[in-house]
Amino acid sequence: MGEDGYFKPQMRKVPTGELMQPSRKTNGYGVQAEDTRICVVMVGLPARGKSLIAQKVVRYLGWLSIPAKTFNVGQYRRSNTPTPTAEFFDTSNAEGERLRRAAAEAAVDDMIRWFAAGSGTIAILDATNSTKDRRRWIQERCDAEGIETLFVESKCDDEDLIMSNILEVKTTSPDYKGQDPEKAAQDFRNRIKNYEKVYETIDEDESHMTYVKLINVGKQVIINRIQDYLQSRVVYYLMNLHIKPRSIWLSRHGESNFNLSGQIGGDADISDRGEAYARRLPELVKQSAGDRELTTARFLEYEKLEWKALDELDSGVCDGLTYAEIAEQYPEDFKQRDDDKYNYRYLGGESYRDVVIRLEPIIMELERSENILIVTHQAILRCIYAYFMNVPQERSPWMEVPLHTLIKLTPKAYSTIEERLKADIPAVSTFREKGSLAKHQ
Ligand code: ATP
Ligand code: F6P
Repeated sequence: MGEDGYFKPQMRKVPTGELMQPSRKTNGYGVQAEDTRICVVMVGLPARGKSLIAQKVVRYLGWLSIPAKTFNVGQYRRSNTPTPTAEFFDTSNAEGERLRRAAAEAAVDDMIRWFAAGSGTIAILDATNSTKDRRRWIQERCDAEGIETLFVESKCDDEDLIMSNILEVKTTSPDYKGQDPEKAAQDFRNRIKNYEKVYETIDEDESHMTYVKLINVGKQVIINRIQDYLQSRVVYYLMNLHIKPRSIWLSRHGESNFNLSGQIGGDADISDRGEAYARRLPELVKQSAGDRELTTARFLEYEKLEWKALDELDSGVCDGLTYAEIAEQYPEDFKQRDDDKYNYRYLGGESYRDVVIRLEPIIMELERSENILIVTHQAILRCIYAYFMNVPQERSPWMEVPLHTLIKLTPKAYSTIEERLKADIPAVSTFREKGSLAKHQ
């Protein structure tokens, strides 16, 4: 901080060809996050997508190296009441009230301990938090610890959607383990009725709080008193989410002449086999598309976009070399990259961490879009795949993403389904295991 009270930008020489660990100050994301601690407090009736939203936010932040964790009050409650019936959630049930309160307290205590341990930036308190009283209590606990609060209310009055949410995720919840799905759905509807008796939406009385209200899955969004950059990132992400059924298809470009010679980077032409794959790709997509996707898309001329942000990881001075040549000419670098491939930045080039940062707008675009096919390079596909499949950073740069293979990802409520279709067109493998010099073959 300068004398005038403003942050002075520090001119820091950024070394290249070194391991660039994220600094605590920026979380590797260029965000002044050193002292930022935010509790995202979910608000809303049951079956309004709160847990799904919480889980997505944690995955997104984790992908950006922002330490985030969900504290789900339901899980704490299950330790005292594993399979409650709707009556448990009736506020005139004193014992139920006591146990629910105890679960909320245990979750908040753990969250505060997690922040105190020093490595957390964003906690998500996943519960209905459906009364003003409860929200005031959370606000006070957070204020006392210097933790910012961001209330996220999901409101939805689309009865069909709520019913399908119940059938999709609630009847299989551990709360109804081993029970008849129809009875479970009926009981869950009664649970919602009990919540409705006391539910208070966030309103003018709470205008001093920082909040976002997502109404009918983002058809309308109300934002109040957003205070800092990280909060606005979270809100922006939430604004881009939708739950329409869709798939994301991922493919590498067809085999290139550089792939054949084992050279990395470059902008080489595609080989004859690569050309054959390019011709086969539309057929593969058709093959893997369900009837609904095909029917929906039948009148569309596919729009094609070129995104600079999808360029391959820049290998700097190593561009155009084979892995064996890199090992010979830059042995130290070669070893460093094997030791920490995610953070290693090529001399004059990029690391996987750098790529993730430049891909962030692409992820936002992918969240907004419906069916989409992305054709790009190996390292870029690994990063995009890691986001959707929640692959940890130490593993993502080592994943096999073969040439001439179409990957179809279909997001579901709490998971993403993956299918792989191999085109019957041979291609070299560009995969290199840790420690090997793998000439592509
Ligand atoms: P509970 O209070 O019982 O934990 P919840 O609000 O956490 O319920 P989820 O378990 O997240 O609800 O429900 C997931 C379902 O909600 C999914 O089927 C998902 O498609 C749907 N969903 C996701 N976002 C929204 C939203 N903004 N509004 C309504 N439904 C949504
Ligand atoms: O070999 C193909 C390629 O796309 C190169 O251009 C790129 O440098 C490399 O894959 C990325 O993979 P890795 O990070 O495993 O070296």
